[in-house]
Amino acid sequence: MQWFARQDIYGFIYRSWMKNRGVPHDQFDGRPVIGICNTYSELVPCNSHFRTLAEHVRAGVLEAGGFPLEFPVMSLGETLLRPTAMLYRNLASMDVEESIRANPLDGVVLLVGCDKTTPALLMGAASVDLPSIAVSGGPMLSGKYRGTDIGSGTNVWSMSEDLRAGKITLDEFHEAESCMHRSHGHCMTMGTASTMASMVESLGVGMPGNAAIPAVDARRYVLARAAGRRVVELVKSKTNLSKILTRQAFENAIRACAAIGGSTNAVIHLIALARRIGVDLKLADWDRLGRNVHTLVNLMPSGKYLMEDFYYAGGLPAVMRELGLHGFLNKNCLTVNGKTMWDNVKDAPCHNRDVIHTFKRPFKKNTGIAVLRGNLCPGGAVIKPSAATPKLLKHRGRAVVFENIEDFHRRIDDPSLDIDAKCVMVLKNCGPKGYPGMAEVGNMPLPPKLLKKGVTDMVRISDARMSGTAYGTVVLHIVPEAAAGGALALVQNGDIIELDVAKRKLQLRISPKELSRRKKSWKKPQPPLPRGYWKLYFDHVLQADQGADLDFLAGKSGAFVPRDNH
Ligand code: FES
Repeated sequence: MQWFARQDIYGFIYRSWMKNRGVPHDQFDGRPVIGICNTYSELVPCNSHFRTLAEHVRAGVLEAGGFPLEFPVMSLGETLLRPTAMLYRNLASMDVEESIRANPLDGVVLLVGCDKTTPALLMGAASVDLPSIAVSGGPMLSGKYRGTDIGSGTNVWSMSEDLRAGKITLDEFHEAESCMHRSHGHCMTMGTASTMASMVESLGVGMPGNAAIPAVDARRYVLARAAGRRVVELVKSKTNLSKILTRQAFENAIRACAAIGGSTNAVIHLIALARRIGVDLKLADWDRLGRNVHTLVNLMPSGKYLMEDFYYAGGLPAVMRELGLHGFLNKNCLTVNGKTMWDNVKDAPCHNRDVIHTFKRPFKKNTGIAVLRGNLCPGGAVIKPSAATPKLLKHRGRAVVFENIEDFHRRIDDPSLDIDAKCVMVLKNCGPKGYPGMAEVGNMPLPPKLLKKGVTDMVRISDARMSGTAYGTVVLHIVPEAAAGGALALVQNGDIIELDVAKRKLQLRISPKELSRRKKSWKKPQPPLPRGYWKLYFDHVLQADQGADLDFLAGKSGAFVPRDNH
């Protein structure tokens, strides 16, 4: 507001150039200026409808008497970006932060969709702390293949394993590609995008209904418009983001994540976001707060339905209501629509109990994300029990080690690979520094020779992440990662590894003496590139337990800019 209201040379400069596209003078009368932060990109298929979404936000802002200004930021597409979109989450967050601060904005609507766009925009906005609302683009319609529903990611893994095992033909594989993604929107399983859209809603930073309305359902546009209207009110009431993103709000989100069977990626993103806004959130909080929370939602990859079914059954409000009825909700948290979380959800209906279960008859019991400790992961590691095979949650096996992802690809199809179903597959050097960017490769495909024998799951451990659409008994995010000199780097073929999820243990059965002997011959890796963002990232990225943010980005600097530009 202050930028445009000035009656001096700067006011002339700020206003006059804006008028070149037909903005009337009365738009500069001190009304709230709202940024619409857009991640539209043809390189990000999940966000390809965001021009239309932005128009609905714009309409809402105008209706409420605000002045909308849309601007682009770096967008991150999960399917195309190499070596992994996660490498660029922090870079995009810097773009978002500086774009919001450096421009004359009073409030901002964040258009988010594909996995990393949600945390990147929230993290950037948190470090400025203006009144902000996130609007997710919504999930795609359910995939339909030969009479059955198929889900993004989840059925990619299963069908590619079927192809490798010779159970389906290449033609069938191609046909499935066309059937899986048939509308605008992000992945329609409870993968990372849907999880993060649910985090937006459960944190209270999105409008009720944000998590599940399909991208192409007209009600998604109504929600975008309502968000445009509301952000103007948030500016007037000085409701900055930090009034929404409180410790209690994060606690709600962690429990919501357990109840939806959400992606392990949420652990990293929410810790990073909390560190930006100034909330003390630790890896251990995920285990403590998620304990005794059941998975209520029967969605892929943990279950069988898809996001479209979830929306028709009642969506996230029906889940939050169950949490509230059973003492797992901080009911008084303020949300961006001006009401408390409980006001928003206390009367939420459920229309299908096979999709959204009650707390008394949960879909799966006690399935919050478990945080493991032990000599292999003194800084922690995570596992998502709801997506694991129950009998493998306590397991002892011989390590089969892959030194990096190339080593894995080179050897996994080899019929002479010395591996059986009881072995523990170990993948190194795929963490934040090691990959670089902590790729989603932790759910290593099983060796074809075991797939052909009917083996469907094995214990797999790594410093990588896994796609939220993936499943299996997969231990992830080992801290310290191999490239940071963690014990993971020292595991050798034939070592015995013990996993006991109930006891929260992951142990390498070798002596401390042997470990330190092996450590002596470990060599510190060099940055993968000697310059540019990759170098900056390598030098400053934190470990997964601290959200894999860059060390100098923690905290916030507010919206103040000290100087004029001429
Ligand atoms: Fe974009 Fe899954 S690839 S959300």
